[in-house]
Amino acid sequence: MTDLFSKFDPLIQQREDLLAGGVTDPFNLVMEKVESPTVAICNGKRTILLGTYNYMGMTFDPDVVAAGHKALDEFGSGTTGSRVLNGTYVGHKAVEQALKDFYAMDHAMVFSTGYQANLGIISTIAGKDDYIVLDIDSHASIYDGCAMGNAQIVPFRHNDIDALEKRLKRIPEGAGKLVVLEGVYSMLGDVAPLQEMVAVSKANGAMVLVDEAHSMGFIGEHGRGVAEAQGVMDDVDFIIGTFSKSVGTVGGFCVSNHPKFEILRLVCRPYVFTASLPPSVVATAATSIRKLMDSADKRAHLWENSKRLHAGLRQLGFTLGTEEPQSAIIAVIMPDLERGAAMWEALLNEGLYVNLARPPATPAGMTLLRCSLCALHTEEQVGEILTMFAAAGRASGCIS
Ligand SMILES: Cc1ncc(COP(=O)(O)O)c(C=O)c1O
Repeated sequence: MTDLFSKFDPLIQQREDLLAGGVTDPFNLVMEKVESPTVAICNGKRTILLGTYNYMGMTFDPDVVAAGHKALDEFGSGTTGSRVLNGTYVGHKAVEQALKDFYAMDHAMVFSTGYQANLGIISTIAGKDDYIVLDIDSHASIYDGCAMGNAQIVPFRHNDIDALEKRLKRIPEGAGKLVVLEGVYSMLGDVAPLQEMVAVSKANGAMVLVDEAHSMGFIGEHGRGVAEAQGVMDDVDFIIGTFSKSVGTVGGFCVSNHPKFEILRLVCRPYVFTASLPPSVVATAATSIRKLMDSADKRAHLWENSKRLHAGLRQLGFTLGTEEPQSAIIAVIMPDLERGAAMWEALLNEGLYVNLARPPATPAGMTLLRCSLCALHTEEQVGEILTMFAAAGRASGCIS
């Protein structure tokens, strides 16, 4: 018998080597208590959270929590079925209406996760003989959506407008084309040049899908994302998003103005063949989305936090993923995995939680300490974070 697990041996070895050095497992941290969107207890210690995607700090919002309690009391703990057959409740309709209002769009379809939204929409709309042109640094759920469908996949260099145009021009005349982009790329926190890319896509007859997972709620005047900030909402055919970041719960969605959009509810397998979100989850999501419409002050404060942390880390001598802060994600580039893990642990011991990210999730084989800010981090907390980075950076030899 061939052991089907033997293909994982190199990874098992790499993990054992890392842990043999005595470092805490960076991929298995337990939060014993979560006190607020910015503070948890980890290993018995007060820890500032700088590695969640809780950008707008909605997880403890009293209205959001109350909506969840009410739905749990009135509708029970779960739907136990698919939207199509036995799992559409008034709460699903209400959250889809909240999304239509939030984006000012005609259609909204809610999935059980953002991952499933990409899987479902991409694999369903791009079929045999169609082409998907995508940024090479696209999220795993985009690649998996491509793998699940039958379309030809054409990747292009990250954020390279000319490369996108060249790929589009090589596609046979008359073929169906879908360009897949992200507003904010989650590893380095950089933003796509959507204005130019959407224009190039449209000029070459392609439909455009933008995943705004890391920009919804924060970027753009109404928090609709990078497409809004760059003035191209009307030219984007599909926006994908998630409830697991700014919205503060779990779930995914696609919004669109396409007149035939609703047919997807019958043909999109990751929508049809899975149970729908529990009533408490859609109730929290709907309440949160409606509150995000009116959160300009929080958006402004989050920008301040992002700028303050970016400037402070640079001043300390760290190498960052972007020259200027472009989103709520600030990536600190580590020299290698060993020093990245040591620095991650030193930060945790100081009382700060960030994400250790490494290949294949990261581009160009980089090891990163990813920081994601929250609108509820105070100015004092950002100061504390910088003090902890200075101490951990010196202790691990990452800065002098
Ligand atoms: C760009 C992007 N799209 C989709 C997803 C999936 O979202 P979810 O956590 O809701 O499955 C993520 C999650 O990290 C993401 O970063």
